[in-house]
Amino acid sequence: MFRYTLTPRQDDILRFLVHHHRQTGLIASVREIQKHFNFSSSNAVAGHLRALEHKGYLARSKGKARSLTFSVRSSDAAIDADHGGEVLAWKEDPTQLDLGTLVAMEQSGDDKRSESTVQSATEAELDRATANLTSIQLDARTRLVRGDALDLLARMPANSITAIVTDPPYGLIEYDDTNHGKMREGRGGVWRIPPKFDGAQRSPLPRFTVLTEKDRDRLYEFFRLFGKRAIELLVPGGHLIIASNPLLSTMTFRALMEAGFEKRGEVIRLVTTLRGGDRPKGAEQEFPQISVLPRSCWEPWGLFRKALSQKTVAENLRVWSAGGLRRISSEEPFKDFVECPPARGVELELAPHPSLKPQRLMRYLVRASLPLGRGIVLDPFAGSGATLAAASAVGYASIGFERDAEYLGMASKSFAGLKALRA
Ligand SMILES: C[S@@+](CC[C@H](N)C(=O)[O-])C[C@H]1O[C@@H](n2cnc3c(N)ncnc32)[C@H](O)[C@@H]1O
Repeated sequence: MFRYTLTPRQDDILRFLVHHHRQTGLIASVREIQKHFNFSSSNAVAGHLRALEHKGYLARSKGKARSLTFSVRSSDAAIDADHGGEVLAWKEDPTQLDLGTLVAMEQSGDDKRSESTVQSATEAELDRATANLTSIQLDARTRLVRGDALDLLARMPANSITAIVTDPPYGLIEYDDTNHGKMREGRGGVWRIPPKFDGAQRSPLPRFTVLTEKDRDRLYEFFRLFGKRAIELLVPGGHLIIASNPLLSTMTFRALMEAGFEKRGEVIRLVTTLRGGDRPKGAEQEFPQISVLPRSCWEPWGLFRKALSQKTVAENLRVWSAGGLRRISSEEPFKDFVECPPARGVELELAPHPSLKPQRLMRYLVRASLPLGRGIVLDPFAGSGATLAAASAVGYASIGFERDAEYLGMASKSFAGLKALRA
């Protein structure tokens, strides 16, 4: 279990070792590290290597004088760091991989150590964050709490969460008792079945065009209050990554800004849905060439940040492990565009939630939310637990809230399966 955060320099050295190995197939020698970082003596390199050892990222190889065995994050990389030493065992470093490889690696299942060793927060940190809540444990790093998000947020200690990644009820009314009940009974309300065009059975989708002015006021107030509570428990520089819908996002995002968040951008998910695009109701024949609303082909995810407490992002990262977004690899930054179709059949079979988000998308977003891979991710509207499964799949500690008993049960059941999927 990782209890310590690396300093930027130590992190750089670890990354250099991994990168060097990937490029050359060889382990960088002390001299090569010294040259690369322009250290004046090999003692400085030795000091950093000792610190990495102390922090559990590498270990002395038993019975081999002068040699070191590295354990990079998940303990998947074990390398002999002695001059010209041979590779004892090697798996890629999750901090350097593209998502596909990362996910495949996490699911290889042949390394049970990852379950206990890859952890972005300690048990004590999880205990502190959930001290006033009754949680169930989904695995060593994941907790789920039943209850109303606004109530539960107010009961969490300040600075206990590093990032929030969530897919909330976009229009609020779709998950209220009346409409949600109607959806479950399969009769009307804001949920409607998209028209059939290929004979396939469609799942119901909520219609946000039916929101009244009063609904909109309530929605704005809900997200303003949510934002205020979320900001309290996030560490300085902590990110909120939150899903919305093109019809409502302007309002939701504005409420979050009023609550004190800085808007840092939006991640656009390209996804063809069956929402919108219909002809005027009751006059389809008369106006065959008209769409009342565009067919929705993208989904906005608002990217917000709590103010830094330090002067620079670098300093804030050192103090709070927050303030930036984790890169996809050292060569590739995190990007605000992702193409990801709706959840596939196998995911829906595991977790038949009406708003299920695919693992591929959630792992992409969740992974970016902890810039140093340190801290706890919170999803206050967990649904079937897709965010929590994604967090655990990339080795992050997480906490989820859900108020609906059926979805809570679904999350407990589907968690292991979703987490084990190749996304
Ligand atoms: C859009 S869905 C999230 C689905 C999730 N992304 C998934 O993949 O399963 C929103 C969830 O929030 C829950 N919810 C709505 N209002 C809530 C509240 N005030 N507190 C806690 N959960 C709430 C709903 O029951 C629903 O499961």
